[in-house]
Amino acid sequence: MYPKEFEKSIRKVEETRDERLKKLPERMKEKEKEALLKKWHPDYKPEAKRKLNVGVSKGEIVPNEVADIIEAYPLIEPKEIDLSQVDYEADVLIIGGGGAGTAAALFAYYNGIKPENIIIATKLRHGDSNTIMAQGGIQAADKPNDSPLIHYLDVIGGGHFANKPELVARLVLDAPLIIKWHEELGVMYDKKPDGEMITIHGGGTSRKRMHSAKDYTGMEIMRVLRDEARNIGIKVLEFSPAIELLTDGNRVTGALLYNLETDQYYVVRAKAVVLATGGFGRLHIQGFPTTNHYGATADGLVIAYRLGAKLRDMDSVQYHPTGVAYPEQIVGLLVTEKVRGLGAQPVNVDGEQFVHPLEPRDVEAAAIIRECYGRNKGVVTPTGMRGVWLDSPMIEIIHGKGTIERRLGAMFRMFKRFGIDMREEPILVFPTLHYQNGGIEINENAQVLGVSGPIEALFAAGEVEGGVHGKNRLMGNSLLDTQVFGRIAGINAAKYAKKAKFGKLSLEHVEKYIEELKKAKIKKERKAPILLPDYRGKQVLSRAIDIL
Ligand code: FUM
Repeated sequence: MYPKEFEKSIRKVEETRDERLKKLPERMKEKEKEALLKKWHPDYKPEAKRKLNVGVSKGEIVPNEVADIIEAYPLIEPKEIDLSQVDYEADVLIIGGGGAGTAAALFAYYNGIKPENIIIATKLRHGDSNTIMAQGGIQAADKPNDSPLIHYLDVIGGGHFANKPELVARLVLDAPLIIKWHEELGVMYDKKPDGEMITIHGGGTSRKRMHSAKDYTGMEIMRVLRDEARNIGIKVLEFSPAIELLTDGNRVTGALLYNLETDQYYVVRAKAVVLATGGFGRLHIQGFPTTNHYGATADGLVIAYRLGAKLRDMDSVQYHPTGVAYPEQIVGLLVTEKVRGLGAQPVNVDGEQFVHPLEPRDVEAAAIIRECYGRNKGVVTPTGMRGVWLDSPMIEIIHGKGTIERRLGAMFRMFKRFGIDMREEPILVFPTLHYQNGGIEINENAQVLGVSGPIEALFAAGEVEGGVHGKNRLMGNSLLDTQVFGRIAGINAAKYAKKAKFGKLSLEHVEKYIEELKKAKIKKERKAPILLPDYRGKQVLSRAIDIL
């Protein structure tokens, strides 16, 4: 239920609806976008970032919260770990049990690795990940009016031309085969009565290529992939995050896991390792709330960096334009872009449109922040936070009664629990921390790159890796990234493992990194990976208002 003070503004939204249904605002010109981003996007605040002082990407600029975990000491004292005691052996060890990790495991199996020789080690339960929380959909150019080339141009444009072209090419070329594979496995994508896939627009897409399973696409994909992995018999170690990689000096030979339930360390020896640990959403960059699951603490980034993996595009953070701004209990949770894709418009406190609903995410988010804090046209909540309306009742006017329950059932229920009926009333939104645009650099074979080329036996897929999305990912390309690069990583890890022998296990690279940290005078108290966010005494709902 909305507080009384929202009523006047909601009436204004209703009064302007008919007019707004007739005409959308113009799309912004490039120059306008640049000026808007510079002034209002949180990424453009120099004080929110700093240069790294250690490691192979020394000098690169990253958010302060990321620098804090990169410039941090390990959780262990390397010399105290007994690596002679091997607990598990695997041909392919996959670190991370979300969409990318599970796809990698399946493709390692399809490419000849026995299930008992594949291990998925995951921090929480198998499937607990951002994949399972993905709502809106997955992009694939598989309709006659579309092509991978058009998809490619959208991705590169959305990413501000900073993407690695060869990675984007893989992403868009492999997208149709991923959808086909999912269909064969039993993913239930939304379809018309004649069986044709329903596809809609996302922000910054020039064709309708978003495939969805209502508004829980990631959950549906994960359900099927997890079932497939379990049926095949792939081994899964739950509550067992990796806290360091192991090497023989030249190549990656395994990982050190930490069992969160028993406080034990596990030594895993492996012929090839795939990192699929996800991103950094739970670092709450600049104090923003987040759409991300609890495990998104960038652990993979930390341990790969200690080993010499290069970082790229880490200066760029994705704030999803529409996180929940009211009620307080669910602030920051995702309101899928599909809501705008189906016609809901963002409008200000006076019911006025101020931005096209489907600009690329960074532009849309900056426009909402400007409306609230630059033009003072936001709706102020009882606790002093601000947001704009997303005029959700338009969806039923455009597509007919029942559309919201049918196509946005999870969202409808989420708001209904708090007495808000999004079929009848608009919902209040504000940008929320959503995605790590950059990450550890990979090549088109999903090999992790160090300064002098691929790091042997180490592959990466999904949000942990960078280069695919440049400086701004488009909707629906993260689920796609997990699947395309999960598949490539699984295939190549299998290929590698079939020829490799087990290697020696050492933490020498960690010892060297500790020396570097000491030289750079980094405080000893700072430890990483952090594994789970610590909310004691922290204010993560400030939405960076103080520094706007
Ligand atoms: O808005 C959304 O449903 C989010 C999708 C994505 O980040 O790809």
